[in-house]
Amino acid sequence: MTEDDRQGGLERREKGGTRTMRIAAVGDFHCGGHGHGPDLTELFTDASRNADVLLLLGDMTTHGEPDQMREFTRFLSGVDIPVLAVLGNHDHESDQADRVQAVLEEAGVRVLDGDAAEVDGIGFAGTKGFGGGFGRHALTTFGERETKAFVDAALAEELKLERALSELRTETRVVLLHYSPVADTLGDEPHQIWPFLGSSRLLTPIENYQATVVFHGHAHIGAAEARTPAGVPVYNVAMPLLKAAGLRYRLWTTPAPERRGRG
Ligand SMILES: [Fe+2]
Ligand SMILES: [Fe+2]
Repeated sequence: MTEDDRQGGLERREKGGTRTMRIAAVGDFHCGGHGHGPDLTELFTDASRNADVLLLLGDMTTHGEPDQMREFTRFLSGVDIPVLAVLGNHDHESDQADRVQAVLEEAGVRVLDGDAAEVDGIGFAGTKGFGGGFGRHALTTFGERETKAFVDAALAEELKLERALSELRTETRVVLLHYSPVADTLGDEPHQIWPFLGSSRLLTPIENYQATVVFHGHAHIGAAEARTPAGVPVYNVAMPLLKAAGLRYRLWTTPAPERRGRG
């Protein structure tokens, strides 16, 4: 695969006769209700023109209220390509994640919560993820029951991602997360909060199932890209981070399988 440019604005084309799929990815919109926040209609319409699939990497809302998600989905009115999403921690804030997810689904968005999806021969596996920290410094199931519950939540997300990836039979497997699986995309986020920005437990399914690429959000002032220890590219597509780099979304292109003839 080729990591195409990050600018947006790529024209529809076939490279050397090979079909390609262009994936636009961005997260962390934090729609706050009361008309608060930027109008994202133009951003999404532009992504729809320049990509074949749009990925939303969580935190569509500020407080996880269904009305806030309704406000967000209005921005998708000009999108006519498939849209896949994972929820973020903010989308859980009001403890109405099911309702918030239903609003997204009513708008035609496929929400991945430990689920797999296939679009035009390309596989997608997604889950929210969770915190807990990284490597040998990750939180372990030791001590208070509250600590164990926190680690159990991270382990549950790892298992959800494993299940989703295990369902895919496609050559290209794209992972959607809100939380980061690596510390290297956390950039300028304060070190004190790194354990709340991701969990390296998510790496196990990513590497065991040889994912092709990972997109996540959540770390607003993180670093744009890194690789897992096994070399899988990881892109942080939190909107504030992209915006600081002058980008509206990340555009990533991969070869797509040839369409089979009908009949
Ligand atoms: Fe966020
Ligand atoms: Fe977040």
